[in-house]
Amino acid sequence: MPQAKPTTPDISFRASDMPRSSIRRLFNAANALSARGETVYRLDIGDPDFELPRRIAEGITDALARKQTHYSPMVGIPQLREAIAHRMLSRFNLDCLPGQVVCNQGATQALNASLQLTCDSGNTIMLPEIYWPNYIQQTTLGGVRPVFYPLNPDFTPDIAALEKLWDPAIRALLINTPGNPTGVLFPPAAVRALYAFAREHGLWIISDEAYCDYVYEGEFLSPLQVDMEQAEGDRRVLAIYSFSKSYAATGLRMGYTVAPSLEIASILGLLNEPLTGSLTTPLQWGMVRALEMEDPHERRDALRGRWQLAGEILRASGFAAKPPQGGLFYFIDISCTGLTADDFADQLLAEQHVAAVPGSGFGLQPHALAGGRLQFEPHAVANSCVRICFAVPEDQLREGVTRLASFIAARRVR
Ligand SMILES: Cc1ncc(COP(=O)(O)O)c(C=O)c1O
Repeated sequence: MPQAKPTTPDISFRASDMPRSSIRRLFNAANALSARGETVYRLDIGDPDFELPRRIAEGITDALARKQTHYSPMVGIPQLREAIAHRMLSRFNLDCLPGQVVCNQGATQALNASLQLTCDSGNTIMLPEIYWPNYIQQTTLGGVRPVFYPLNPDFTPDIAALEKLWDPAIRALLINTPGNPTGVLFPPAAVRALYAFAREHGLWIISDEAYCDYVYEGEFLSPLQVDMEQAEGDRRVLAIYSFSKSYAATGLRMGYTVAPSLEIASILGLLNEPLTGSLTTPLQWGMVRALEMEDPHERRDALRGRWQLAGEILRASGFAAKPPQGGLFYFIDISCTGLTADDFADQLLAEQHVAAVPGSGFGLQPHALAGGRLQFEPHAVANSCVRICFAVPEDQLREGVTRLASFIAARRVR
């Protein structure tokens, strides 16, 4: 009898259709170039170059010395939830109960848990049309359909367009302010209008506030602040925060969610069970120490200088680059070169050794194919931009942005 040829089984559609992140593509390409001994100006990944605050490291080692290495509650240790509730009061003047707080493995896992809480497979979530790529990876894995709300040319939301998108399958609306990659702060009136839209249509709001500690100009209004003005039974905001950016702790993978009620917080805690199997206990003790100090503004002030420097170099090179109001990035229009964002980023890396992330990955729009498969097309505006991170050492920033500006000037075709 002929032997069946051994074959490895196929992977799921969800895993194979899930788009790969353009951030990681550039990150890996830049690492490969560095590994060959080349100097690379790393303006790609959003990882502030500050040292981890010493007291966080001490909190972790003290916890290890106290043998705090066992499973912890799914919602996080009580001391951390309390410290976060206290931070919500000092940061936003919001009177949250520690029971509303759920600790997460970074904002990434918090976002995934919130998506799972609010949307069933087949439901729809509203995302801004230019967005952080992990959102689309999570919706693809969750079988949730994204619908994109348009942004104005300045990347603020086009509120007038929202109503036309309405469809009863929509369950949630995602807001990310200050935004990645745009750096735009949604004006308070826009936040209130998005909130009113969500309220009118009975939607959840997932508010990704990973960059809320890095605001350089303009007024920051958190959707959570609007939510806390409502009666408890009418609240709908799942507000998500990260220690990664605020405390230069990207590798520690810690974040948290403030839920609109104790009940929702306990369900989010339940979702942590399959998603993380509880958080790393010593790290939670480290974050308790982080919150004992009110210092994220020190890092923001240090970043403000780099934000200014990048803007000055771009302007001096003839770009009308509007500075971002918050976050860690400039999202730069390269349409004058006639190159797609991917070609631009690849050539910039190869010729100038500057790593910048192509905008294509920040606007992927899925199209359903026969058999339920998905294909992704880049958004036209995003595909003519590149993102650079200014949270890098000043000498790297100066050289990297100068090389980028002269590369654009040399490739200008219109
Ligand atoms: C908009 C946005 N949200 C969430 C995250 C994830 O943060 P964390 O490292 O806490 O998972 C990032 C990280 O780059 C981000 O840019």
